[in-house]
Amino acid sequence: MQIGIPEDRSRKIATKEYNTYVANGIDKHKPTAIAPSSLLCPFPIDLKQKLDEKHLVVEKSLHRAIGKPFYSDNGFILYQGDSTEFLEKMADNEIQVDLTLTSPPYNIGKEYESPLDVEDYIKWCEKWMDKIYEITKEYGSFWLNVGYLEVPQKGLCVPIPYLLWNKSKFYLLQEVVWHYGAGVSTKRHLSPRNEKWLFYVKNPKNYTFNLDEIRDPNVKYPNQKKDGKYRCNPLGKNPSDVWEFPKVTTGIKRSSKERTGHPAQFPLGVVERIIKTSSMQADMIIDPFAGSVSAGIAAYGLGRLFIGIELKTEYCQLAVDRFESFKKKRRIAQSQMKLF
Ligand SMILES: C[S@@+](CC[C@H](N)C(=O)[O-])C[C@H]1O[C@@H](n2cnc3c(N)ncnc32)[C@H](O)[C@@H]1O
Repeated sequence: MQIGIPEDRSRKIATKEYNTYVANGIDKHKPTAIAPSSLLCPFPIDLKQKLDEKHLVVEKSLHRAIGKPFYSDNGFILYQGDSTEFLEKMADNEIQVDLTLTSPPYNIGKEYESPLDVEDYIKWCEKWMDKIYEITKEYGSFWLNVGYLEVPQKGLCVPIPYLLWNKSKFYLLQEVVWHYGAGVSTKRHLSPRNEKWLFYVKNPKNYTFNLDEIRDPNVKYPNQKKDGKYRCNPLGKNPSDVWEFPKVTTGIKRSSKERTGHPAQFPLGVVERIIKTSSMQADMIIDPFAGSVSAGIAAYGLGRLFIGIELKTEYCQLAVDRFESFKKKRRIAQSQMKLF
């Protein structure tokens, strides 16, 4: 018989005092911070050394394989050019990564794309996804974020996963629904409020998956017990396949603090969760459609190495400015941490 088990005071979610999610609720429309505080923490010295050493090795092999980068510093390497071409060169030179996370153009006429016939768009995606498969390490993952496109005579808002899900050699583990509060409002159909992340792995039997790094502390009954034992993990619950992250918004009064001049920016929160899920510290991460480099900022803040590829020079410049100012922000945040 189990009696008198002392309350485990180390449990992070045991009380409302710790479980701020339950205490305060989450506002889905709230503008995001410039960066989640988890991206501002200092690294242990040995990780810093490892990142510096690995950066030199990766920079050298990329230089040999692809040529001079647009920018390279502190484990953050950005190339300006066409992703298929660069991925091909990486594959030819056996340069491999642990994780790819990306959002390609959706073929919907945004300022950074020239729309193709749907068939050609699918073929184009197949081509670069094949290269991503080639450059992915054995236990690596590929997270693909896509929305909707029109298929003439067939459908208006056709989910791109319906067209792409089995067009690469990766194994599809699952689809994650990213639900957000704000977005365009429509009059003749329902306003879109979600996009998908396709979570692929190379080896379905063995892949990096750090569940404890991403547990959700929003547990309704954290103290519930069965046979004297807590029912839920002290770090929180599995965050499920429906994720709530506010979009990066624009507009007076409602603009996100992390907003840059890029029209399709990932919120740092969502990419932070993916990086924590599917990579370890000092791992190599690539975003071949890097845009404003949200993936690179999160990768750097979490102690990973990042390679970005972006076609447009103006976005590359924006990305470098963003990275430089994020580095400064991290330094300031860390010097303030030392004061207290
Ligand atoms: C959906 S946006 C990605 C935005 C990014 N996730 C962010 O957080 O800012 C797609 C990006 O791919 C870039 N792009 C389009 N075609 C490309 C190509 N062939 N090679 C590399 N980048 C390309 C576009 O300029 C655009 O910045």
